Amino acid sequence: MPFYHKLGKIPPKRHTQFKKPNGDFYYEQLFGTIGFDGMSTNSYHEQRPTQVKEIKNQYSVAPKIAKENNMQSYRFKGFQVKPENDYLESRKIVLTNSDCNIILAAPKQSTEDYFYKNTDADELIFIHKGTGKLRTHLGNLDFKYGDYLLVPRGVIYKLDFDTEDNRLFIVESRRPIYTPKRYRNYFGQLLEHSPFCERDLRQPQELETYNESGDFLIKIKKQDEIFDMVYASHPFDVVGYDGYNYPYAFSIHDFEPITGRVHQPPPVHQTFETDAFVVCSFVPRLYDYHPIAVPAPYNHSNIDSDEVLYYVDGDFMSRNDIAAGHISLHPAGIPHGPHPGTMEKSIGKVKTEELAVMVDTFKPLKVTEDALEIADEDYFKSWLDH
Ligand SMILES: [Fe+2]
Repeated sequence: MPFYHKLGKIPPKRHTQFKKPNGDFYYEQLFGTIGFDGMSTNSYHEQRPTQVKEIKNQYSVAPKIAKENNMQSYRFKGFQVKPENDYLESRKIVLTNSDCNIILAAPKQSTEDYFYKNTDADELIFIHKGTGKLRTHLGNLDFKYGDYLLVPRGVIYKLDFDTEDNRLFIVESRRPIYTPKRYRNYFGQLLEHSPFCERDLRQPQELETYNESGDFLIKIKKQDEIFDMVYASHPFDVVGYDGYNYPYAFSIHDFEPITGRVHQPPPVHQTFETDAFVVCSFVPRLYDYHPIAVPAPYNHSNIDSDEVLYYVDGDFMSRNDIAAGHISLHPAGIPHGPHPGTMEKSIGKVKTEELAVMVDTFKPLKVTEDALEIADEDYFKSWLDH
């Protein structure tokens, strides 16, 4: 998060003695990124955060690649991913490259018996269905339909769901995820032409603190493996922290669309950036208002980026036979565009209710076995006249 946040109790000066009422010390931890050059947070713990008791298991969660090199456009029916009780087991990687994993998940139950920490990647969790609470060692965030939850790498978390009906679209990014630089000034403040501002970004306001000893299982992801590490102190034992590196939430419904007289290009929908892919939000908006505007997008070649669209809600003007929960994959190197008849149908329309999340990756995506289980193999022919 590119701005400062403080929660709980912290001493007036960093790296100085900070004592409990009984005279014992609190223990400081610098939680930083990019060596000592990126965003960081200083947190204060009831116990030393280093007390590893046991490393129980180590197992692979690497995606199983079905198509290493892909030139086929696909439609994946995301809601066909079967709900599973456990959060981590419910996560199915459908598309992957060395920078990111694109994941669908339908977890039924809250994380009860363990804590989870991803050290490989930042996680951007989009809530398509479900409500609940993201609980982390740096504070909690309530979530509901339409929320993006940004969990920076290394944050220890649990997800509590209110019901069993949950659908998540997750991007795991080995590159740090930021808001677009062009919308920030030299000081990091969001500028007037940004489609969202600081008031739209929700920071943790509630801190859960437990001073407990025992056996606490943290499932830690590193290099595509999960390590079951048992700690001697409760992972949520932070009494306070300050800094820039913490989880936050942003609702897609708070994204203010940028519109124009003629068709605006996808970058106006950009919400997050990395140096390996972008994330865009397509939200309900007025169409172009030039008297002879064509509201549907033009055919376009992402000659050097794969395009993934996750359809959330509304009517998808440029596509036939697309429903909520579907993913389209349009690979780099070949053009795609409106389906037959949809460009003509768009003429004269004044607004769209579409809601979708787009991920454009600069490196090609590999298609996994889990993706092929929910794939429409004929989608690539859907631009033919019938
Ligand atoms: Fe496109």
